[in-house]
Amino acid sequence: MNSERPPYLPGDPPPEAAVAGMIRVDHAGEYGAVRIYEGQLAVIRRGRARDEIGQMAGQEHRHLAAFDALVRARQVRPTLLQPLWHVAGYALGAATALMGERAAMACTVAVEEVIDAHYGAQLRRLGAAEPALRETIERFRADELQHRQTAIEHGATEAPGYALISAAVQAGSRLAIWLSERI
Ligand SMILES: [Fe+2]
Ligand SMILES: [Fe+2]
Repeated sequence: MNSERPPYLPGDPPPEAAVAGMIRVDHAGEYGAVRIYEGQLAVIRRGRARDEIGQMAGQEHRHLAAFDALVRARQVRPTLLQPLWHVAGYALGAATALMGERAAMACTVAVEEVIDAHYGAQLRRLGAAEPALRETIERFRADELQHRQTAIEHGATEAPGYALISAAVQAGSRLAIWLSERI
């Protein structure tokens, strides 16, 4: 047997620190999602879009509660950047909502596409390990794809400047994930 086997190979269950990192970044992401919708709801005070955003916000609260519980149960240190996501998430939500309801929906599409890829990558990394966490991520991923669909049905892709909003929000979301995995 080769004693110089690297400590971690593709297909091995991820080490505990890696799982803790996943819980940390997912907790941060769901927190950011809650703040984005709070920012949007502060601007969009009535109408069908508000009702839909309210529904999505309710689901994000449930996602956050689940990762809050995981952070406590597994004694994971939350990201130190939570105060930043508190402000940045809210600002992103409010700014896109000020651009109009379709721009607010474009923000949701962009965020959810990044989250879908992120959760997909985590599921591949987990493999068969951590079945309860897997199930949670799979369920939330399905919710996020439903949010994306809802936002498209509410005219997201017809928002003026859709391509620009999408690119900017996706870049910001990827940066937030990258940072929350590390800090
Ligand atoms: Fe979520
Ligand atoms: Fe979502």
